[in-house]
Amino acid sequence: MRIGGPNELVLERADGRSEPLHPLWLRERCRDAASIDLRTQQRLQDPSDFDLDVRVTALSQPSPGLFQVSFSDGHQGSFHAADILEEAALAPNSHDCPAPRLWDGRLSELPRARWRADPGDEELMSWLESFLTLGFIIFEGVPSEAGMVLKVGARFGFTRETNFGALFNVRSTPDANDLAYTSVALDAHTDNPYRTPVPGIQLLHCLVNETRGGHSTLVDGFAVAQALRAREPEAFRILSSTPVRFKYIDVDTELTASAPPIELDVTGELKAIHFSPRLDFVPLYPAAQLGAYYRARREFDHRLRASDFEIRFLLKAGDLVMFDNCRLLHGRTGFDPAEGLRHLQGCYIDIDGPRSLYRVLRRRRVAAGAVRRSA
Ligand SMILES: [Fe+2]
Repeated sequence: MRIGGPNELVLERADGRSEPLHPLWLRERCRDAASIDLRTQQRLQDPSDFDLDVRVTALSQPSPGLFQVSFSDGHQGSFHAADILEEAALAPNSHDCPAPRLWDGRLSELPRARWRADPGDEELMSWLESFLTLGFIIFEGVPSEAGMVLKVGARFGFTRETNFGALFNVRSTPDANDLAYTSVALDAHTDNPYRTPVPGIQLLHCLVNETRGGHSTLVDGFAVAQALRAREPEAFRILSSTPVRFKYIDVDTELTASAPPIELDVTGELKAIHFSPRLDFVPLYPAAQLGAYYRARREFDHRLRASDFEIRFLLKAGDLVMFDNCRLLHGRTGFDPAEGLRHLQGCYIDIDGPRSLYRVLRRRRVAAGAVRRSA
């Protein structure tokens, strides 16, 4: 960052481009006590009330990396180049967390960690890095006690309670209100696409598994969507622009929500997958559009079920898998309940819990580094 002229602060990007910083963008970042509440860091004024034509009237650099700016409305602000550069480096749609690393069925080393109720910051951060990059993590050695899944979930975020309860039991029962609670095989799907918002993260804790079947399956839906985008761009376009209705009906519940199977954010990046062949109802579009949609859905579904994208593992008692329900699809192979018991307990937590925890730990690490440096 440098002073580009008497009224201009200039940002120089790594690729050689340089651009002047908009005076209003700077003005609304003033961090003094008149501009923000210093305790909460929240702004005290509505920035829409600032003069749209606010100008920089004076500039100085009292020390390296620090800029003093006078504005035409009489206000003065100080800006650290490091803060501005950090913000400038973030993509508009960035979560400011480790970026997803897409994977397919060749993922040989699954992210496994020994569960500890009181991990240190570094250990917790490495768990979060695995989860945020790969979209899942498998904890081993979680005590096989009922309710433990809620305790593990609480380590990463807030429980998202649903009509299935704060915690749900996944075992085959004769009066199941969901196919999950039977012994049939479940193809790759995302959970609860009929809710708004969809539960972001699912945790499944195995208490008992005496069956030979009942393998858990995971597919990186973002990897499959990217493969579709590369190979079948028209199918990708259709699936990312056609809203589909999802429904769940129980005696005292009726949920419905619409979303395209591949949801993009406003920048065109992948945001979420909504896919559950048991629960989707495509609206009555014109026949030609429906024909194209069905072809596109089949292209996507065949890839989702193909072994080159899927990983398969057996959860044993004490294992707990936590996965991103907006990115990954999950399923299980069928099992014979006559062989023995298979009992999992599950819960949901919000998608932003692990991201928040990661940023807090990173801030703490940076602060500790600063203390060490100044000691
Ligand atoms: Fe499920």
